[in-house]
Amino acid sequence: MSIFLAIYIIIVILFSWLFPRFLSNALGFLALLSYLLTLFPSLLRKLFNIRNNLFNNWLLKHRRYIGVSSFGFAVNHIVVSININDLLDVSKYAHYRIGLLLIFILGLLTFTSNDWIVKKLKKDWKKLHQLTYLIVLLLPLHILDKMSGKFNYFTYIEMITTIGIGILSACRLFLKYKQTNFF
Ligand code: HEM
Repeated sequence: MSIFLAIYIIIVILFSWLFPRFLSNALGFLALLSYLLTLFPSLLRKLFNIRNNLFNNWLLKHRRYIGVSSFGFAVNHIVVSININDLLDVSKYAHYRIGLLLIFILGLLTFTSNDWIVKKLKKDWKKLHQLTYLIVLLLPLHILDKMSGKFNYFTYIEMITTIGIGILSACRLFLKYKQTNFF
């Protein structure tokens, strides 16, 4: 594990110097992809009743680590993307409002993803983690806000996957609503 982390840190330092824009986009892409992978297994299970599938079981087993990686990539993405001068100028924060809200919610979900807090919050934990649906809504808005007029290959994949997961999540919420209200 520490070898991978060391290689990762060397690549990030090198690319932030040689290709900062590419690195910002690649880290945003990795943050988004790993985040969507945390939603995927339960959507497949709830909507398509896909249970004993090798890939799905692996995703379910490692969901917490994938979630934490998503947060790590997102923080890295922010460090590489943010213009340092803007940090000193509060009026510029409005530029980053969707990104700030995204990282706040992602942070909240990441830091409450441990057994101790799950036990402590009980039913409220599930309610808190419903915030995940807000991330699905905010991600395409952030991408459109930052990438309109300069879409690259990552951006098309991000938009298609995020909107796809968004539609599946809406179907799941609708089914849940139907089950609780009509039966
Ligand atoms: C304060 C928080 C954030 C800031 C300041 C920020 C900043 C940026 C900027 C400046 C870009 C455009 C890069 C360019 O010009 O090419 C961008 C794109 C992007 N960001 Fe963020 N971001 C934030 C949070 C997040 C979070 C939390 C995620 C994911 C979970 C994320 C995912 C992305 C993605 C996927 C793109 C598009 C990359 C592409 O298509 O090439 N961002 N962000």
